[in-house]
Amino acid sequence: MRAFPINYCTRRKQVVLLLCCLVILYGFKLHVEDDVQFNFININGNEKCEIPKVNPFDESILPFFWKPNPIVCSENTELVYIDDDEMIHINKNRTKGKHIECYYQSVIRKEQSDDKILFGTSVWFNESRSAIMESDFAKVVCVFEGKNIYERLHYHIKKKQKYFKSDNDSFSVLLFGVDSMSRLAAIRELPKTLTYLEKTLSAYVFNGYTKVGGNSYPNFMAFLTGNYSVPFNKKNFFDNQPFVWKKFSERGAATMYSEDYPRLSTFNYVGRGFNESPGEHYLRPFYLAINSERKYQAKLTKIFMTLENNDITLGGTSSLCYGDSPKHAIQIDYFKRFLNKYKNNRKFAMSWLNEIGHDFTNFLKLGDADFYNFLVFLKEGGHLERSILFFMSDHGTMSDKIRNTPIGRIEAKLPFFSIVLPTILKKKYPHIEYNLQTNINRLTSPLDLHKTLIDIATNSYNPQQKDKEEIKHSGISLFNKIPKDRTCTDALIPESSCACYTSETIPTNNTVIKNITTFVVETINTYFKSHQSKCALLILKKIHDAKLIHSNLKHLEHGKKTALWQYLYKPTLDKKQRYFIIFEVMPSEGIFEVTTEITQTNNLIILDKIIRANRYGNQSSCINDWELKPYCYCKQTTLDVQS
Ligand SMILES: *[C@@H]1O[C@H](CO)[C@@H](O)[C@H](O)[C@H]1NC(C)=O
Ligand SMILES: *[C@@H]1O[C@H](CO)[C@@H](O)[C@H](O)[C@H]1NC(C)=O
Ligand SMILES: *[C@@H]1O[C@H](CO)[C@@H](O)[C@H](O)[C@H]1NC(C)=O
Ligand SMILES: *[C@@H]1O[C@H](CO)[C@@H](O)[C@H](O)[C@H]1NC(C)=O
Ligand SMILES: *[C@@H]1O[C@H](CO)[C@@H](O)[C@H](O)[C@H]1NC(C)=O
Ligand SMILES: *[C@@H]1O[C@H](CO)[C@@H](O)[C@H](O)[C@H]1NC(C)=O
Ligand SMILES: *[C@@H]1O[C@H](CO)[C@@H](O)[C@H](O)[C@H]1NC(C)=O
Repeated sequence: MRAFPINYCTRRKQVVLLLCCLVILYGFKLHVEDDVQFNFININGNEKCEIPKVNPFDESILPFFWKPNPIVCSENTELVYIDDDEMIHINKNRTKGKHIECYYQSVIRKEQSDDKILFGTSVWFNESRSAIMESDFAKVVCVFEGKNIYERLHYHIKKKQKYFKSDNDSFSVLLFGVDSMSRLAAIRELPKTLTYLEKTLSAYVFNGYTKVGGNSYPNFMAFLTGNYSVPFNKKNFFDNQPFVWKKFSERGAATMYSEDYPRLSTFNYVGRGFNESPGEHYLRPFYLAINSERKYQAKLTKIFMTLENNDITLGGTSSLCYGDSPKHAIQIDYFKRFLNKYKNNRKFAMSWLNEIGHDFTNFLKLGDADFYNFLVFLKEGGHLERSILFFMSDHGTMSDKIRNTPIGRIEAKLPFFSIVLPTILKKKYPHIEYNLQTNINRLTSPLDLHKTLIDIATNSYNPQQKDKEEIKHSGISLFNKIPKDRTCTDALIPESSCACYTSETIPTNNTVIKNITTFVVETINTYFKSHQSKCALLILKKIHDAKLIHSNLKHLEHGKKTALWQYLYKPTLDKKQRYFIIFEVMPSEGIFEVTTEITQTNNLIILDKIIRANRYGNQSSCINDWELKPYCYCKQTTLDVQS
């Protein structure tokens, strides 16, 4: 007996229908999830800021990370190259003796527009006659037997015929930005770059650098002009704003401004961009030219990237490429060429990468090796001898799902920010080194960066005395000491951007505190397991101080629900308990500070390093490991005990 007398044909229709429904539902789910954006604000912006310590590898966010496939671009098929003397040549290695003629057309910015470009008149060249480049960018076409066989955009730096000051008695600024990269994301995604930055370049990496607004615009305005509340609209250019690069330009610096992803470039997304080129060298027309050549692809980039984020690559090459190179590598190369061309000149150079991190945090990994190589180039090429490097971001991820976790909410507010100082500057002004070392653990913002850039532009490196009221409610140069008790309100950080924790003193005889401290002391003892014969076992002597740390982010309910996701999703709230403890151990009388967290699964973890708060002199002279010296107390010989 047949229980289901459905003929084959209708059954197949049903299966197809069912599949369609599933696909639509899945697409719908992804779409709704993409919209989920809970509104959290800080309810204690007037209290002394405790810089949040957060575990970058917390169990709650690990599901969002995976390793994307490496970027695969097409093989190098460039038929022409531009040399250091600004001449464009046919690469004889690639023509295989064939008679090829080429022409280039300069890419020209159209007047009164930051969105349009024109192609100049054709300049022909061939194997025996190269041509001089007239501008930074050109479309090159090559012809063989009457047919176009090659069409590609090329770039270089055409040095401007203008007087630039030497950098002998002043410093330059190299600003290398990666959009939407939180400090924690940099730790997770750029291990190679960060190790080099911290260990070899001795960078100051700021733990409390906080955004002042939701997207790139307010944060850019804050560090570039000192004012993040300048209104904008689609009708106006930004040329009249007091951008800090003008201060450098007035003082003889060569300037460069590069931002990729032309649709999302900061000043073009919210306004009309720039009428005049915002610097002697400006990469935007190159990207516009790429897009004008492949309109279809430019529109679909976001879709291709969404697929790549889900591990699907259409065709052999990634949408992050142009020709044989990832686009971020092109931008880095343009930066390098700028540095080589203006080697001994004063400079203000800013390169900002949007595409690689803006939509999908995981893609940042794909930049690690190239960022690392760039830093090596800077150091080994001597480009850091008279330049201050800022490797930084504007805010954390805004469009990834991680933003709906308690950690994501904190990290969105704390962008990666670091400074590398030239050795001569440190030697000449030791207080700057000392202040930066202090300020990495203070509340700072892009407004402070603005003041720092002005100090560099005007060669102001001597300590500045400012009265307390002036320091409040304005940016403070990072070369000065930032007050310990700074609040978000003092620093002009709005409550929607403020990530600060606050703390509350609790009794030190609390059993939970005792229990945690015992665990921390046991942990320290495990550090020198391999030196057990030399370092004495530490025992808890006294708990000096204990604080319960509060996260102050509060969910603002929408008065009226207007979107579907608001019915379907509830925010995950932060239920972790965090403690800050200062304790003393025997026999070293070492005093330590630690921040711990009890996770959702009831594990106790130590956030960041356990810090030795008092001097350890030569207590640990029996070992050579610098990392362990603050913790080890060398066992005394009988002779020592006698004395
Ligand atoms: C051509 O090939 C030679 C030998 O491999 C190499 O030295 C040279 O740099 C190549 N030229 C260009 C322009 O790539
Ligand atoms: C290259 O171009 C020049 C000028 O257009 C021409 O005189 C010359 O014959 C060409 N050389 C070759 C090898 O085609
Ligand atoms: C800058 O310094 C270099 C090397 O120290 C020197 O050769 C050059 O003449 C100096 N330039 C100026 C303008 O002082
Ligand atoms: C910032 O710009 C706005 C609008 O132009 C202006 O009202 C405000 O006074 C400026 N703030 C500062 C600190 O200059
Ligand atoms: C902790 O100390 C306070 C006074 O310092 C005391 O009143 C309280 O009873 C103590 N609690 C415990 C659990 O020992
Ligand atoms: C802390 O307390 C838990 C139970 O509350 C206990 O299992 C654990 O051993 C204690 N840890 C220490 C280091 O005393
Ligand atoms: C360090 O320890 C050694 C012996 O262990 C002692 O001779 C020396 O004086 C100590 N130095 C200081 C600065 O305390």
